[in-house]
Amino acid sequence: MNNFDKREKWGSKIGFVLAAAGSAIGLGNIWKFPYVAGENGGAAFFIIYIICVFLIGLPVIIAEILLGRTTQRNPVGAFKSLTNSRLWPFVGAMGVFVGFLILSYYSVVAGWSLGYIYESASGVFYSFDNPKLAGGHFNKLISNATWGVSMLAIFVILSMFFVYAGVQKGIEKGSKILMPVLFLLLLIVMIRGITLEGSQKGLEFLFEPDWSKVNAITFLEALGQAFFSLSLGMGAMLTYGSYLSKEDNIPKSSLQIVILDTLIAIIAGVAIFTAVFATGQNAAEGPGLIFHTLPIVFNKMPGGYFIGVIFFVLLTIAALTSAISLLEVVTAYFIDEKKWSRHKAVIVFGILAFLVGIPSALSFNVLSETKILGLNFFDFADYISSNIMLPLGGFFIAIFVGYKWGFDKVISELKNGSENLFEKHLWTISVWKILIKFISPILILLVLLHSIGIF
Ligand code: PHE
Repeated sequence: MNNFDKREKWGSKIGFVLAAAGSAIGLGNIWKFPYVAGENGGAAFFIIYIICVFLIGLPVIIAEILLGRTTQRNPVGAFKSLTNSRLWPFVGAMGVFVGFLILSYYSVVAGWSLGYIYESASGVFYSFDNPKLAGGHFNKLISNATWGVSMLAIFVILSMFFVYAGVQKGIEKGSKILMPVLFLLLLIVMIRGITLEGSQKGLEFLFEPDWSKVNAITFLEALGQAFFSLSLGMGAMLTYGSYLSKEDNIPKSSLQIVILDTLIAIIAGVAIFTAVFATGQNAAEGPGLIFHTLPIVFNKMPGGYFIGVIFFVLLTIAALTSAISLLEVVTAYFIDEKKWSRHKAVIVFGILAFLVGIPSALSFNVLSETKILGLNFFDFADYISSNIMLPLGGFFIAIFVGYKWGFDKVISELKNGSENLFEKHLWTISVWKILIKFISPILILLVLLHSIGIF
């Protein structure tokens, strides 16, 4: 039996797109994008972000999915099967490691969202008539170490459950139903945000750039956020691509994933910033931003009680479909390369992710004064993984696909499933070639070097 027959597969084309979109869409769009944009000046950050998404994110996502589909392997195995070099598989190994690190702190925030299902259901938001009360409540919760660690534990167990069930049954089914509902609910919250008195300032903040706020760090943050939000640079898309069949149209699916992800970030941005400015809050509040803001919005809308509860249920599920993809990468690596059973890999790495997540959960209470390079453990893990290691992973993927794999082979693989597209729009190949060979790697390198003060 060859690799194509025995490997697990997506049940349908749309199943893959939704699962990959499920990986991309998560806390990165709804929790992180608004707070990072808020800390980096709003509109100018947003524009740089969009440039990173389309000039770097889109070509790299195509490259990653293609690597996965061609090799039908995990990130390490994919490089191993295409080169004899011992160095390239390290790029994959770095990805597996980063994915695991992201999973650990990501689950902490997902745990907050999980906890907020209970908070919203308890009716406590009713008493929040000003942002100070909502913020105070959030700060009280995260300063409680037992709360943070227990929510982390429950969330990791939930993720383990889905990855344990496998590709089609667990990952695909879950994403198919839940993503569309989330989209609808976000739209409702956004409309309420826009109709709040004073929301105009929020729209200006997000769409009228003030370039004086831009510096080297803005570029790094925007690049890191693009990689983080698109689940790129660590092999999640590669692994999901490895469950694809040759008939799938990779450029088209990639574009769909990127557009959906960007749309959700914009909707979340509008929903949050209109509310932040209408209620006179601080846009640069940091990781607590949505937890300070949203309870007030729910409080100010008809049916807000139910919308609040459903919103946090869906946010938790969006986080879950992303965490699943993070855990799936480590799992696939140990199944393929170390011949572990799926069940063993899920249990071992689920428990480890929980343990490594503990210092991140404690960064908001017991360990808040413990700093690494001036950052608490949570911020440090986030900074290193999304701002440095993901772009670096993306850089190497672009170089590998652009120069090492053999570009004729790359193109003939890419053409599988997308013959129609290339027949009608031949120029798309040339554009992708220029982006993956030159524009993406050069831009990534410039941003990384610029951020450490070189050039
Ligand atoms: N893209 C996910 C989000 O936006 C997070 C993630 C990053 C998932 C990297 C997988 C890999 O929430």
